[in-house]
Amino acid sequence: MKPIVPIVLKSERLILRPPLPEDAPHVECFVSDRRVAEMTALIPHPYPRGGALDWIHLSERQWLEGVKATFAICLRDSGELVGCASYFNDSERDNEIGYWIGVPHWGRGYATEALTRLLRYVFEDLGGRRVDTYHFAHNPASGRVMEKAGMKFVSKTPLGASRDGVAYDDVRYSISAEEWASRYSLR
Ligand SMILES: CC(C)(COP(=O)(O)OP(=O)(O)OC[C@H]1O[C@@H](n2cnc3c(N)ncnc32)[C@H](O)[C@@H]1OP(=O)(O)O)[C@@H](O)C(=O)NCCC(=O)NCCS
Repeated sequence: MKPIVPIVLKSERLILRPPLPEDAPHVECFVSDRRVAEMTALIPHPYPRGGALDWIHLSERQWLEGVKATFAICLRDSGELVGCASYFNDSERDNEIGYWIGVPHWGRGYATEALTRLLRYVFEDLGGRRVDTYHFAHNPASGRVMEKAGMKFVSKTPLGASRDGVAYDDVRYSISAEEWASRYSLR
């Protein structure tokens, strides 16, 4: 694998770039919404005031350490931030991708476009061999995003994941570099 270094990714409608301190109010507004936080393992609810700025500073350090690539998902035409996505490359969550989109922007295909672009980054830029991810079973929209981006269902595990110390059924998806290449080689 090549090292993770700060990079800007583009897709048809989106720009994925490292988050900046000035993004904090937008990020905080979106992740403070229970509908976003409660479908993730890590975003607290209620969200602490000032938490987004701390999180952005953390993401800057993680970029420099090469352990996690976090992107603000922005519209190409206006620059508006609509969500965030991360690729974890640490020992705990090796090869995992996480993402969220702000509620006003749901249902426009942004998560699918961002996940697809992030997979391309992992396989084609970093030389990753496999990406795994999961969603809570009560969040089928995220499973649909994974499917649309080309990931394959792996397993459903009763009480396999947790949030705030509460266990939930999880659904795991995966895609290998070979599967990626066979799906997108004609791109
Ligand atoms: C899940 C999430 C990222 C989807 O973002 P989005 O930009 O709306 O996703 P897309 O528009 O690319 O695709 C959503 C798909 O889910 C489908 N969907 C929506 N609600 C659904 C539901 N209850 N059951 C099944 N599918 C559903 C949509 O119809 C769409 O599929 P389609 O294109 O085949 O119609 C967004 O809702 C979100 O941020 N949720 C909270 C945080 C989260 O869940 N993060 C992921 C944690 S694993």
